[in-house]
Amino acid sequence: MPSQLSSPLDVAAVRRDFPMLTGDDRDLPIYLDSAATSLKPASVIQTVRDFYESSTANTGRGVHWLAEAVTTRFEESREIIAAWLNAQTREVVFTSNCTNAIRLVAEGRDWPQGILVGLSEHHSNDLPWRTNASRSTAAVLESGVIDLEDLRRQLNEEPPNLVAVSLVSNALGTVQPIETIVELSHQAGTLVLVDASQAVAHRAIDVVSLDCDFLCFSGHKMFGPSGIGVLYGKQTCLEQLATTSFGGGSVEAVHADSFDPREIPWRLETGTPNIEGVLGLAAACEYLDSVGPEAVRDHVDSLTAHAVRGLREIPGVTVFGPAQNSARGPIVSFSMLGLESHALARILSQRHRICVRSGFHCAQPLHEALGHGPTVRASFALYNTLKEVDTFVEAVTRIALARET
Ligand code: ALA
Repeated sequence: MPSQLSSPLDVAAVRRDFPMLTGDDRDLPIYLDSAATSLKPASVIQTVRDFYESSTANTGRGVHWLAEAVTTRFEESREIIAAWLNAQTREVVFTSNCTNAIRLVAEGRDWPQGILVGLSEHHSNDLPWRTNASRSTAAVLESGVIDLEDLRRQLNEEPPNLVAVSLVSNALGTVQPIETIVELSHQAGTLVLVDASQAVAHRAIDVVSLDCDFLCFSGHKMFGPSGIGVLYGKQTCLEQLATTSFGGGSVEAVHADSFDPREIPWRLETGTPNIEGVLGLAAACEYLDSVGPEAVRDHVDSLTAHAVRGLREIPGVTVFGPAQNSARGPIVSFSMLGLESHALARILSQRHRICVRSGFHCAQPLHEALGHGPTVRASFALYNTLKEVDTFVEAVTRIALARET
């Protein structure tokens, strides 16, 4: 069970929940790469382990006691995840990750008027749209925010079928004005898909108040297992998606020359699912609820503000993304004059045990649009501490000063 935590966040208690962060401080990573994948709490690890050690069976297929128990837990997990999103249970489709959730939507129906993708998007929310529709892009401002004037103009002139946008940019941390984007799009009769991958670990998600038509994310970025993703869709939107992959689990009955598909969401989930992934993801939702989304958000916001402040003072360092911390998720990307991003990330890793990501962060069109080269990205989660941020800023400072002398 997760620790009982008080608010504001008791980070020491949180860290005790994460096996990768327990032990001698000198051996631990300073893990600032949660935007790539998060660490996992003991409750999630134990859930996956229990499935393998004591409750393995397939879901939705057998009537023996192990199969029935797993089927019940699998569908209860769907209920937990749906409640966590404030969605109806049948609006939650399990996929292998966020990219595949987007692919289900992109390939599930025709999009004759095309798709409008923010230039802020990472490859996962861009490439799947290029295969089955004409895809155009909405401009971004220097902060990484979608240019609302350009969006409004394109929606008015030639309304696309759908706008696809990430709530939080994985490359710059920019929080998009999603309520405005949804409102403008709906006024034009355009659907909206929100990629919430970089938001789910840090803030409460309420699909009813967002009023988006689709929303997707990967479990591994929110303390759950890898290989499990979620596609939320309003029921009417999911019903319009054709099954693009046929097989066991998605059908009621199969005859020699015909078959009867199941209802959504099962119709869109073909083959044996990632059962342990689903159970683990439900455990991750429960873990986040036990910590408290507001406490998590306040904590990561203060870590991010501290990092931005510190990095901005270092000579030769340029911090990218929104000027205002209120418009930034827990992601800070920066470059250092004269030192290539992978080189800087390697020095941080080898000399300081600091883990950051470097390069284009799977968002090359954004970097090209803004004229940025590759950057170093530090990303924070509920288990990071202000002391870790200090160590990180001190390490970057030392590297920068060594280059100057
Ligand atoms: N999209 C992931 C990242 O930003 C992999 O690192």
